[in-house]
Amino acid sequence: MRVYYSPLRYPGGKSWLALELRTWLSINPSSELVELFAGGAFASLLAVVEGYVSKATLVELDPAVCAVWRSIFSPTADDLCALIEKFTFDEKSVRELLSVEPESEVMLAFRTIVMNRARRGGILAPGAGLLKLGERKKGMASRWYPETLCKRIFMLNSYAKKFSVIEGDALEKLSTLNRRKSHVKLFIDPPYIKLQERGIKPLYRFNSINHRKLFELVGKTHHDFLMTYDLNEIAMSFAKQQNLCVEKIQMRTAHAIKKEELLITRNCL
Ligand SMILES: C[S@@+](CC[C@H](N)C(=O)[O-])C[C@H]1O[C@@H](n2cnc3c(N)ncnc32)[C@H](O)[C@@H]1O
Repeated sequence: MRVYYSPLRYPGGKSWLALELRTWLSINPSSELVELFAGGAFASLLAVVEGYVSKATLVELDPAVCAVWRSIFSPTADDLCALIEKFTFDEKSVRELLSVEPESEVMLAFRTIVMNRARRGGILAPGAGLLKLGERKKGMASRWYPETLCKRIFMLNSYAKKFSVIEGDALEKLSTLNRRKSHVKLFIDPPYIKLQERGIKPLYRFNSINHRKLFELVGKTHHDFLMTYDLNEIAMSFAKQQNLCVEKIQMRTAHAIKKEELLITRNCL
């Protein structure tokens, strides 16, 4: 059964990987998880809420996504929920909200959650379209469940002391971690290579990274890591150069679409 901890429905989110994450977190455990390219941060939420770690650090470059996590893990979670509860989720209000620049962090967080719920596939990258008919022809509001969103926000807020958010570059953070002695678990879920290669519409505002450099840093790390990639030759050859273990895994999608991804580790799961 799928577990839902986040108020974001994140494109490329890893809720389908829950079983493998639990296995990996149980082997060679550490009290700290660092999630590079955090996005919807499924691995960190699962690890903290289910008690696998006592601390999780989310590293993410997109300020709008970081604003959501910082607001959830701070006393402004109350203000965020008040905004969610009083919002009328229709096309006019959504368009109005998205047309103005937020004046505070909590407004940026609120706007990001609304955008994530109103856009097709939850895509936050500039230019993604708004949902039209939505599920069961309920219109744009088909994905607006204020009570559920606030329940998840308050539940996560109760773990606030266990989370830190770093707004910054995952590759830089990994170089720093590689110099740190104490051991952490590293979950690494970068943007797809394939989309970048084929010039397909971006899923994220920050969509392209130096994949070769990431593999070099991962190859050098002494931390126990689990990295996921889209199935493609480039990632497989970078992994081979670094002597890493690559396993194919069938994604468990909600739409029963058969798709494979790569799980990359030091010694195989
Ligand atoms: C595949 S998504 C992560 C999804 C996440 N695992 C989840 O469960 O929702 C990749 C994320 O990497 C972020 N990103 C892109 N470039 C980055 C960089 N250089 N440093 C940190 N985050 C970056 C994107 O904004 C996006 O949120």
